[in-house]
Amino acid sequence: MDIPPCIAQQAVLVKSEAMPSNAQVVRGYDFSNGVDYHALLQSYLTVGFQATNFGLAVEEINKMIAKKNEPLPLDRKEDIYKLNPTGCKPTNCTIFLGYTSNLISAGTRENIKFLVENNMVDCIVTTAGGVEEDFVKCLAPTYIGDFALKGKELRKKGINRIGNLLSPNDNYCLFEDWLMPILDQMVIEQKEQGVRWTPSKMIARLGKEIDNTDSVYYWAYKNNIPVYSPALTDGSLGDMLYFHSYKHPGLILDIVEDIRLLNNQAVYAINTGMIILGGGLVKHHIANANLMRNGADFSVYINTAQESDGSDSGARPDEAVSWGKIKPTATPVKVFAEVTLVLPLIIAETFARHHFAKEKDSQKS
Ligand SMILES: NC(=O)c1ccc[n+]([C@@H]2O[C@H](COP(=O)([O-])OP(=O)(O)OC[C@H]3O[C@@H](n4cnc5c(N)ncnc54)[C@H](O)[C@@H]3O)[C@@H](O)[C@H]2O)c1
Repeated sequence: MDIPPCIAQQAVLVKSEAMPSNAQVVRGYDFSNGVDYHALLQSYLTVGFQATNFGLAVEEINKMIAKKNEPLPLDRKEDIYKLNPTGCKPTNCTIFLGYTSNLISAGTRENIKFLVENNMVDCIVTTAGGVEEDFVKCLAPTYIGDFALKGKELRKKGINRIGNLLSPNDNYCLFEDWLMPILDQMVIEQKEQGVRWTPSKMIARLGKEIDNTDSVYYWAYKNNIPVYSPALTDGSLGDMLYFHSYKHPGLILDIVEDIRLLNNQAVYAINTGMIILGGGLVKHHIANANLMRNGADFSVYINTAQESDGSDSGARPDEAVSWGKIKPTATPVKVFAEVTLVLPLIIAETFARHHFAKEKDSQKS
């Protein structure tokens, strides 16, 4: 009888070391048990690939929430006083939420509104579109379109495309009509009362003026949750500020005052958690604030960016550890996924579950 070459046998039949006793077995959801969404999402942890990262992100955010619900340490009273210069109620874990503009254009806006309305996060960082699109949506709707719609045809019709969403240009005319008198008033307050406007003060003012419970920034204003947007001019808001600078010149926005507030919110926090949806400015601005405290305690990134180009957007949490933006002892998670798909499911397994469980408990007692 012929036998296989010894070298091939040795190469293929290498002996394994025993797996660690706590090694998790790969196993997915068994639909024979019926459709149970909570059990389905819990099963993700042992599915592998991004499903496992989803499960780890749920665990990491639940750790943030548990920390937040712990009592404040008594020996940190002075810090607690400085914790949030905007007057938001201090907690044992300050949660920083960052998201790119398109996530307010999309229906993730409603998911974010839930978090802000219910005081589940303590600080927001977004880009200009992430601010203005929330107000625009209070004035006129954004529609579902198609990624394949032709730019040339849409331009003729005065319709703007954001991925597969459509936003008629008239929406921005309504936005202009709403915004200009507020900008006029801000200039008057700056000149007559010495108000020093910052992007965060401006966003809070707009949140007050919109007076609409659908708005993320209405709730941020109501709950004293600061919203930072250092590049506030890079969007329709910038167009409006440009036009306004001719009609009623003089408005000044101070980004230095905002960076002090943002960084100090991290410096004086007892513990911090970062939930960063998308990349670019929002990702770095939050991580950099956490450098000021020698790193965040808990972190979840959700984005589609890759690290091979050396971009900050694509950098995995481990790169932030090297810069001191995430603590070396932390267990950060990156979910490589499109946010609109996974954020509602993550909220369902974390903030929303806790919220409704607490509500049920308080109804019982
Ligand atoms: N609706 C809009 O998107 C809009 C509107 C007006 C102005 N702008 C301006 O465009 C500029 C760039 O926008 P930006 O900095 O908010 O981010 P961006 O849209 O440039 O995204 C930055 C990175 O985040 C990741 N990302 C974005 N969306 C994601 C998703 N749905 N799922 C997973 N990962 C995602 C990607 O890696 C992307 O490269 C900003 O200055 C903004 O104000 C945007």
